[in-house]
Amino acid sequence: MCGIVGAVSTRNVVPMLIEGLSRLEYRGYDSSGIALVLNQANSPEFERVRVAGRVADLNAKTTNSTGQIGIAHTRWATHGAPNEANAHPHLGGNEIMVVHNGIIENFADIKNELIALGYTFTSETDTEVIAHLIAYQQTQTPTFLAAVQASIRQLHGAFAIGVLSLQNPTQVICARQGSPLVIGLGFQEFFFASDIAALLPLTQKMIYLEEGDIALLDYQKIQIWDNTGLAVIRQPRMLDVCADSAELGPYRHYMQKEIFEQPTAIANTINQALSQGFNPDQFGEQAQQILQQATAIRIIACGTSYHAGLVARYWIEAYTGMPVSVDIASEYRYSNGLEQRGTLIIAISQSGETADLLAAIRNAKERGEVKILALCNVAHSTLTREADLSILTQAGIEIGVASTKAFTTQLAALYVFAGCLAQARSSLSDEKLAELANWLPRLPAMISAALSQESEIEGWAQALSHHAHTLYLGRNTLFPIALEGALKLKEIAYIHAEGYAAGELKHGPLALVDENMPVIVCAANDALFEKLMSNLREVEARGGQIYLIAEPGCEAALPYVKSAIFLPLNTGPLAPIVFTIPLQLLAYHTAHRKGTDVDKPRNLAKSVTVE
Ligand code: F6R
Repeated sequence: MCGIVGAVSTRNVVPMLIEGLSRLEYRGYDSSGIALVLNQANSPEFERVRVAGRVADLNAKTTNSTGQIGIAHTRWATHGAPNEANAHPHLGGNEIMVVHNGIIENFADIKNELIALGYTFTSETDTEVIAHLIAYQQTQTPTFLAAVQASIRQLHGAFAIGVLSLQNPTQVICARQGSPLVIGLGFQEFFFASDIAALLPLTQKMIYLEEGDIALLDYQKIQIWDNTGLAVIRQPRMLDVCADSAELGPYRHYMQKEIFEQPTAIANTINQALSQGFNPDQFGEQAQQILQQATAIRIIACGTSYHAGLVARYWIEAYTGMPVSVDIASEYRYSNGLEQRGTLIIAISQSGETADLLAAIRNAKERGEVKILALCNVAHSTLTREADLSILTQAGIEIGVASTKAFTTQLAALYVFAGCLAQARSSLSDEKLAELANWLPRLPAMISAALSQESEIEGWAQALSHHAHTLYLGRNTLFPIALEGALKLKEIAYIHAEGYAAGELKHGPLALVDENMPVIVCAANDALFEKLMSNLREVEARGGQIYLIAEPGCEAALPYVKSAIFLPLNTGPLAPIVFTIPLQLLAYHTAHRKGTDVDKPRNLAKSVTVE
């Protein structure tokens, strides 16, 4: 989604703003822009440069620009086409510049009022309304800050903004209400951005703004006010993330790099479980009590994170016998019904900023006495701050829009969680718990072994790249992995793909199967293999082209398949994590063959902070 960067410094801020924007490119965008205040001492004026294209184009157009205070933006179009006129920053009343993430729901009403007051609009965006509104409020209120505060009170929706004013040429204001914003502290220079990734080369000392905060930055200091207008102090934190984690290194794409980082990311995520086993205390002081007292589990998430939730349901039900439901956040937030007292809501999100998910957990709290457990990859995200309990995955920054290591680390963390829940509730014998825990140390090596089969997958990708449709099949925990494999292929290779529970085949999708339909099948060597064999026969009898990914022991399927790849090892209960690897590689290599923009697939954004 959109990205914001702002800076005030005694140095030229243009390279910082451009570098910051390029570090936000991964979030998805279609136009970009920058605004600076020039001649601060005499007659201040704005320099604004906007392009309907890449940050590289903006960079080329700003090589001669210099300024010490500025704001910049990458826009992902919501209101109006991705052209230069709609790109941010937007000018209000000739004296205000605004960049904005999010959506202003009541923009049409405010726009009509401002037009009646004589303001002229030059774009189709909701953002331009904010710029003119602040300009108008500057004529009604004593200070720049008061004008921004008064304007924000009128806005409905979720947003983060950065504002420049010619009347206050040495100041920049930023504010958040529903969309993330972080302030970076340098030496005699300050920055803000919608994502820490933009600021990592400049500083690791950050302040996370709280909901409703407004901050005023100048050359000397930062001042912050909360949503009641009270001056507040927010403590800075030193982050343990280095700028290099956002570098591509020897890889062709971030997605490829992130696929290969999975053995390490997973080892880091399960680190505590490796030393302590399934000890609920690893999730925090209250964890033991919350897990013991939970009456039911409801998992809420979107997209790939939702698929992780679907896998977790199988594990939790099998190990604890507790009822588990899994909901898509955008559906849950508008559904009805009360929550059973004591329900534990597990909110899964790699970013912790997904608008639908945040709305869903706030809604869940209104439906009953629930506890919220956040499973997230970002330590100080909105989600983790609003939850009672947090489990952090250790995937590191994920740049590729299509989630890979964030997903498998979610799965690894959920497996540990399911074990801890069983431990806390004494629902499994010590022997069974030890058996489940014993799989964990083997996981990073199993992932590495699956990665080593990349060249065989490349052969499949060549064949798949010529098809327009694909089916993915799996049973039990591999059913959600079929969904995830299909989602990855859709997202980055733009091939229509559907994931199905293999048992559903003859209830509809079998009608699609003929000699032109590739069918990717995940086969575990488990109690359901015989059932899956029947499904393979059904496909083969209709001429379907079966590509089988299987564990050792599934050789009986070979007569029915066009091609097979056998994982080197049996993967037991961790099968969904390991089977994900070949499906990620398949999507990646198919997309690469087709020449699509793997890391920034069309129409998609990394963090979906609007509804
Ligand atoms: C797909 C993908 C998305 C996200 C979804 C939720 O590859 O990444 O489907 O999983 O937008 O995002 P988070 O996990 O940040 O809430």
